[in-house]
Amino acid sequence: MSDLVGKHIVLGLSGGIACYKAAELCRAMTREGATVQVVMTAAAEQFITPVTMQALSNRTVYGSHDVSGFDAREANGMPHINLSREADAIVVAPCSADFMAKLLHGRADDLLSLMCLARPIATVPLLLAPAMNREMWAHPATQRNMAQLAADGATILGVGSGFQACGETGDGRMLEPPELLDDLIAFFQPKPLAGRQVLVTAGPTFEAIDPVRGLTNRSSGKMGFAIARAAREAGAAVTLVAGPVALPTPRGVTRVDVRSAREMLDATQAHLPARGVFVATAAVADWRPAEVKTEKIKKQDDGALPQLEFVENPDILATVAATPQAVQGELYCVGFAAESHDLLAHAQAKRARKKVPLLVGNIGPDTFGQDDNALVLVDAHGSRELPRASKLALARQLVADIAARLDRPHAEGVAR
Ligand code: CTP
Repeated sequence: MSDLVGKHIVLGLSGGIACYKAAELCRAMTREGATVQVVMTAAAEQFITPVTMQALSNRTVYGSHDVSGFDAREANGMPHINLSREADAIVVAPCSADFMAKLLHGRADDLLSLMCLARPIATVPLLLAPAMNREMWAHPATQRNMAQLAADGATILGVGSGFQACGETGDGRMLEPPELLDDLIAFFQPKPLAGRQVLVTAGPTFEAIDPVRGLTNRSSGKMGFAIARAAREAGAAVTLVAGPVALPTPRGVTRVDVRSAREMLDATQAHLPARGVFVATAAVADWRPAEVKTEKIKKQDDGALPQLEFVENPDILATVAATPQAVQGELYCVGFAAESHDLLAHAQAKRARKKVPLLVGNIGPDTFGQDDNALVLVDAHGSRELPRASKLALARQLVADIAARLDRPHAEGVAR
């Protein structure tokens, strides 16, 4: 909970019912360590009071009565200059259709629009979280304005879909505060995987025995989901093939849900990029019952135990590592090893057996279901430890490490 430490965010509110969500967003940003300065338009003050935003941000709010040039609180009387110079980013949430139109034309008849216009465009990013009725959102004027604002350097954070305050259902709702928070955190992350494609497998697989029973394992999927999130934050287009887990999909990641190892293999092959990165974090069941009973296996009166026979599941990582694009180094393959002991030795052996350039080892029983982990990265030249940290922090380090390998012209497993 410290992803925004050291960041100073100016949170602008324009008029819209989604102002109530801005209160939660403000709180969420401060919880992540940001300092937040709120600036409100007169219309925003109709929906939520400056007092609420002041209490949540712990700072005096700049509202509709604050007119640049006449502000006694500022030595130079110019909050539009001072506020925008101090900011690491300006986030307008909610950003109404009217406020967008205003920004587009460079109008500056209130403090918020004046401050946006006065921001140093090269150093202070402007992020907009639109919020409006679905017809307003779909209107060509809004879509045109949005495209132009993006071309002018603003980042449009997109909208949610669903039931709207006006009673209609469709696109145009402001994103939820946790979604906006994730987008803002991602915005500040470095982008070493920009333009790359990444496929991640995650979670356990479930191998059915009969309609009500099956074989699975204790993998929670958290490490793989964290890697998918980190890769997305790093700018990649990410597909996540997930076994049965109870985890929310990371923002901006395409998720494909599967159950069995064979389904995971099919989905992996269907979404495998020709160039990019494949990270196999899934704890794939090594075996499955040779036969899946169509009816529930019942207890026998004579106490006879059911006899299960097993067959081996396909090895997804080894299959991918043997594809032409992987062999030629167009697709960089990363394996995981969940071991219970002798981590380094097993990880080295597994790297050689699976024929991948990089294998990441972790101690399974120490990490399954936990929010933190410790990793050891094993390649042809040796190993490097990533000490215990949150899975997201480790995922970001791993993604940065992979990106650096892709950029190194003679790294093993990378096309020359
Ligand atoms: N893996 C895979 N398909 C399988 C088994 C494993 O893609 N059928 C991948 C995992 O996602 C991981 C790596 O191979 O990236 C190693 O998985 P692990 O279960 O540790 O290795 P196994 O090959 O199953 O070896 P063992 O269980 O004997 O340690």
